[in-house]
Amino acid sequence: MSKISGIRQYIRQLALALAGAWLIVLAAAAPAPAFDTSLDDELLLLVNGKHTLPADYQPNDLVDTAGRAPSKKGVMQLRAAAAEAYVQMMADYKAETGGKVYSISGFRTYAYQSRLFNSKLASRRNSGLSYGSAYKATVMYTALPGASEHQTGLAIDLSTGSVLSESFRNTGAGKWLMANCWDYGFILRYDEAKTDLTAISYEPWHYRYVGLPHSLIIRDNNWVYEEYISYLQENGSIEYADPEQAGCVYRIYRTDDITDEYPGIVSVSSDNMGGYIITTHIDRLDDILTAWAEQAVRGGLIFFGHGALLNVF
Ligand code: DAL
Ligand code: ZN
Repeated sequence: MSKISGIRQYIRQLALALAGAWLIVLAAAAPAPAFDTSLDDELLLLVNGKHTLPADYQPNDLVDTAGRAPSKKGVMQLRAAAAEAYVQMMADYKAETGGKVYSISGFRTYAYQSRLFNSKLASRRNSGLSYGSAYKATVMYTALPGASEHQTGLAIDLSTGSVLSESFRNTGAGKWLMANCWDYGFILRYDEAKTDLTAISYEPWHYRYVGLPHSLIIRDNNWVYEEYISYLQENGSIEYADPEQAGCVYRIYRTDDITDEYPGIVSVSSDNMGGYIITTHIDRLDDILTAWAEQAVRGGLIFFGHGALLNVF
């Protein structure tokens, strides 16, 4: 073998090794598979007068909290994740203050909501209001069947007594919940200043479970749930520094496209608007390395695409 062909052989082997290395980088930086819609935990459903649930919608992981936290009812069902967070919140409230908060209403079926709405409407009619006035007043406090968050099993009404009252806001319990609910994944759903957005009157007793970090994002932005979903819809995503892990962030996306791909998926929930909310957790350093690898792959692909490397030999 001549000296020249020996060098060519050497360069050829080097090039093949480099090409192999590129393929490894390519594989390592290949995007994660498209998200799996069977992961849908339905914890982030937006439910209101515009985005309703079908009559037969009923979650399949309801648990009874009546024996585990003070309740005015014999049975108080919530979805499992909401129930765990609620029981913990009530235990902490009792430990910190010695006080008691009673649950008044949790999961409701569509049929129950229908009866509730009709009975509230009838009692306003009986007190002398016209049908139109009675309907308008009722729909501000009691959602129409299909439009109630209680049907999701993620909402709970609370009181220091047996009835729901606006004066709950001024009680120690009401104030404690407004200050602390967020840390347990709950949000105050019907804000006094945002009734134009929620179309429901101020309800200091109605708490909705959305889970962490969503409750913290909603608190920090002073949003109601409609505003959070609108933000995600308009901007595609939001980022929130993980308060527990320095250097890590939650990045929450909303998409209508189930073929989209996301690294670091923590959970997936449909939003009741035809889309999905994807919660991801990312280590900033991994994020930077992935961006570099992707850039390198893009460079490599252009290199291969032009046939430069393969044509030389
Ligand atoms: N009170 C709330 C709006 C409901 O009926 O779901
Ligand atoms: Zn309620």
